[in-house]
Amino acid sequence: MAKTKVAYFCQSCGFKSAKWLGKCPSCQQWNTFAEEVIEKQNTAIPNWKATSSSSQRANKPVQVSEISFAEEQRTLTPDNEFNRVLGGGIVAGSLVLIGGEPGIGKSTLMLQLALNMPALKVLYVSGEESDRQIKMRAERLAPIKLLNSNSAIDTPHSAIGSDCYILTETSTQNIFKQIEILEPDMVVIDSIQTLYSAHIESTPGSVSQVRECTAELLRFAKESGTPVFLIGHITKDGMIAGPKILEHMVDTVLQFEGDRHHVYRILRCIKNRFGSASELGIYEMMGEGLREVSNPSEILLSQRDEPLSGITISTTLEGLRPMLIETQALVSTSPYGTPQRTATGFDTKRMNMLLAVLEKRCGFKLGAKDVFLNITGGISVEDPAIDLGLAAAIISSHEDIPVPIKTCFAGEIGLSGEVRAVNRIEQRIAEAQKLGFEQIFISKYNLESGGQNKKRIDLTRFKIEVRTVGSIEEVLSALFG
Ligand code: TYD
Ligand code: MG
Repeated sequence: MAKTKVAYFCQSCGFKSAKWLGKCPSCQQWNTFAEEVIEKQNTAIPNWKATSSSSQRANKPVQVSEISFAEEQRTLTPDNEFNRVLGGGIVAGSLVLIGGEPGIGKSTLMLQLALNMPALKVLYVSGEESDRQIKMRAERLAPIKLLNSNSAIDTPHSAIGSDCYILTETSTQNIFKQIEILEPDMVVIDSIQTLYSAHIESTPGSVSQVRECTAELLRFAKESGTPVFLIGHITKDGMIAGPKILEHMVDTVLQFEGDRHHVYRILRCIKNRFGSASELGIYEMMGEGLREVSNPSEILLSQRDEPLSGITISTTLEGLRPMLIETQALVSTSPYGTPQRTATGFDTKRMNMLLAVLEKRCGFKLGAKDVFLNITGGISVEDPAIDLGLAAAIISSHEDIPVPIKTCFAGEIGLSGEVRAVNRIEQRIAEAQKLGFEQIFISKYNLESGGQNKKRIDLTRFKIEVRTVGSIEEVLSALFG
């Protein structure tokens, strides 16, 4: 009998080690190693064309100029947001990972897409739900065209999904067998964590299984030119072998996010070998499926029609991705001797610094006031670019004058009250514009070239009004007179 080989994998980042370790040398997490059995190839299990050329074929080096170049073949879907996030449609032979927390709507998004591709033969492989469950879900979903037009949705749904096949299967070998028979034009896998390959002994969802199944699907996608979509779950604590470890294997990584208790969902592109990685698509979860939100500012406007004092919108970066957040402040007279200072989602020391700058440089008497700061949505932000928005929120609450809606801020505040430049300003402005803002306050130092070979940013390409300021007083007099 063949000797079983084991290895230890970090469940958080996928680092492989021959022995158990307490701390992962790659991601520095403690106690994340788990033993997994890795079986060798000597059992004769059919693979995706295992005997085909792929393993033997040796590529020769080719001169760059000799490589024939053709635009990638792209297929447009009826879902415009999805096309945009992918960089202009589905690329033939691409492997796309769609990650997100359970229950956010990944299956809904992909099933809806699968049902709305009349020109393509789509295979939807589910390891999570039975075909009857999927049918029930499909019955609920309205055609994308109808969801996005204003007409009432009362047409029968039977017209859609005629060329969509459902397969409930978790073994990759069986999936490939069916694929060879059906020859689909597009494959959706729901989800990668439920698949298992007979080449590997460990349980479905473990790091080595997830990686092996993805590698097999990658080979299939590249050799057949069929686009493959993988759905992957991410959990907040990251203990389950998440799709994080797959990000470098696939061509495109999309993340579906949003609050399960709210109806809006954001589809973000994190990585894209075939287009820009800064695209995002916004959807609304309805009873009949996901509707595209083509005018994103409606999300912010629907929550707040009138401006309220103490609330501003700031731009922040999450990794490399720009994001707009609501920054709130409440300033009230302290009933006791010592005023209270509380910040949720923001550093208290930095808040005290901001208050001191506003007191000293702008003459606001904040010393005897209670000040509460809050970043909505329960996130915590370290980006100094939200300083300006917070300072405006504090003064707005102090003076009880609202900041106009559709205004946002991006700037760091220095100790002398100067508004300092922040990084990636163009992406922040672009995000604000995309979300429907009309003006953004930024530092004037962002316009000056920050170095020899840095080019000046071109404001003419933005439709949003960009107001450049040098000091906090300038912002406050522009806003509050
Ligand atoms: P689902 O796609 O199953 O999430 P995931 O695959 O990411 O785990 O979506 C789950 C939620 O979506 C569920 O709570 C019900 C809701 N939903 C709607 O609101 N409208 C719909 O048309 C559908 C199909 C689901
Ligand atoms: Mg699902």
